[in-house]
Amino acid sequence: MEWSREERYTRLEDVSEAYISELTKKVSAGPYRQKFHIQPKTGLLNDPNGFSYYNGQYHLFYQWFPLGPVHGVKYWYHVASDNLVDWQDLGIAMAPDTEYDSHGVFSGTGFVENDQLHLFYTGNTRTEDWTRIPYQCHAVMGSDNQIKKDAEPLISDSPIGYTDNFRDPKVIEQVGRYYCIIGAETSDHQGAIAYYVSKDLKDWTYQQAIALKGNIASENQGFMWECPDYFELADQGVLLFSPQGMEPEGDAYHNIYQSGYLVGEPLDFATGEFQVTEAFNELDRGFDFYAPQTMTDPQGRQLLVGWLGLPGVDCVTDAFGWAHCLTIPRELSLQNGKLYQRPVPELAALRGKAVAKEMKLENETLLAKEFSARTYELKATFKDIKGTRVGLAFRKGAEEATYFYYDLAAKKLVFDRSQSGKSVTDEYGTVRRCAFSEEALEIRLFMDESSVEIFVNDGLEVFTARIYSQSDHNHVQFFADGQASVTATQWEI
Ligand code: FRU
Repeated sequence: MEWSREERYTRLEDVSEAYISELTKKVSAGPYRQKFHIQPKTGLLNDPNGFSYYNGQYHLFYQWFPLGPVHGVKYWYHVASDNLVDWQDLGIAMAPDTEYDSHGVFSGTGFVENDQLHLFYTGNTRTEDWTRIPYQCHAVMGSDNQIKKDAEPLISDSPIGYTDNFRDPKVIEQVGRYYCIIGAETSDHQGAIAYYVSKDLKDWTYQQAIALKGNIASENQGFMWECPDYFELADQGVLLFSPQGMEPEGDAYHNIYQSGYLVGEPLDFATGEFQVTEAFNELDRGFDFYAPQTMTDPQGRQLLVGWLGLPGVDCVTDAFGWAHCLTIPRELSLQNGKLYQRPVPELAALRGKAVAKEMKLENETLLAKEFSARTYELKATFKDIKGTRVGLAFRKGAEEATYFYYDLAAKKLVFDRSQSGKSVTDEYGTVRRCAFSEEALEIRLFMDESSVEIFVNDGLEVFTARIYSQSDHNHVQFFADGQASVTATQWEI
């Protein structure tokens, strides 16, 4: 069903209770609801926002359109957690209820200062002739979790040299100064990251666009860089962003939009220069991942949560009144110029009954009859690998299966969801690949009702995707075209 502009810009308070209760019924009566991922109770979820640790809890917000599975007028929805596993529902955090965010409380971040959680976000507005005017706004949250928006935006006029695609502020502190980086499209339609400086989080002065120097080979950088993030790990700077408009290159960039990072010398905000040492690398090799956001927690961990979805593509659950979810939280580390992502150890609390199995495979496919869970964590280690192909099939049944394997001949990891079940995004391809040539293969796979996150060799590569398979298709098979010794454990979730 096509939604009219008027329908998409209808606010929650303008629909009847009956509408919401019908929609809620439709969502809960439908298939594919997740068990351990953050998902919207109705409507559409997109970017994670304001990910932070404040007042003894992890706080996470997300972009939300309550009334249906479309990109309508956005709210911030709030959840909080003591342990990154159990999330408490704190309801709507910010509604599009001021003249500076009338057409959406768009994405932004959190920053803790003076016992308050400062929220920086983009207020999206449209004029009558539908010209977009973005404002960079600020609100504070106190220990009672009540949020108060400032009366006026922090930044009202975007600087000259950019289009109206100017949004998603992230605030960083460096030696007593605050910097706010903002995702942007330049007037000549190049992706960019603009930044401002402030002494007090209130008055912000525009500096320039971050100037990338060095190893940035590709011309193919897209027209708009959404959701920028910057942090330092192992004395290196990491600039993370979600470019729109990159063309596919080999195995890379096959999703509608991308999400990745540059590594370099620590960013010098005085000059605005970022000396790049590692060219753009995708964060995720799968089908459904976008707009991730990171935070540093009290243990000093750099944690990441992403949107397990993409803009501009339909979702199988649209028919049931909701769309998308967030990824599980992941801890980042930087090794040899590459970001590794590992599921946070806290997720072990989800583990229920465990079943283990050891196999020696020789040119065969083996059904692991013991593995029968629907939602689970699976760890499988393949050693003594010889031949051309080793891997596994999961969510397998009479008609469907999803395949993940190491193609030794091509030196690639391959994720094939062409036979996974229902799909609405096949136009972007049904197989994803990335280069891989390691002696052993370790797969850690988190299977929820309708998503899978596959962490390979301790987070070296990650594949994230939605999968919509039949409810009785729960077999796991292991295979080797050649040889492999496999040790596997499945924990029911
Ligand atoms: C990324 C994005 C952001 C924007 C938000 C609106 O998915 O387009 O740039 O702030 O979503 O929901």
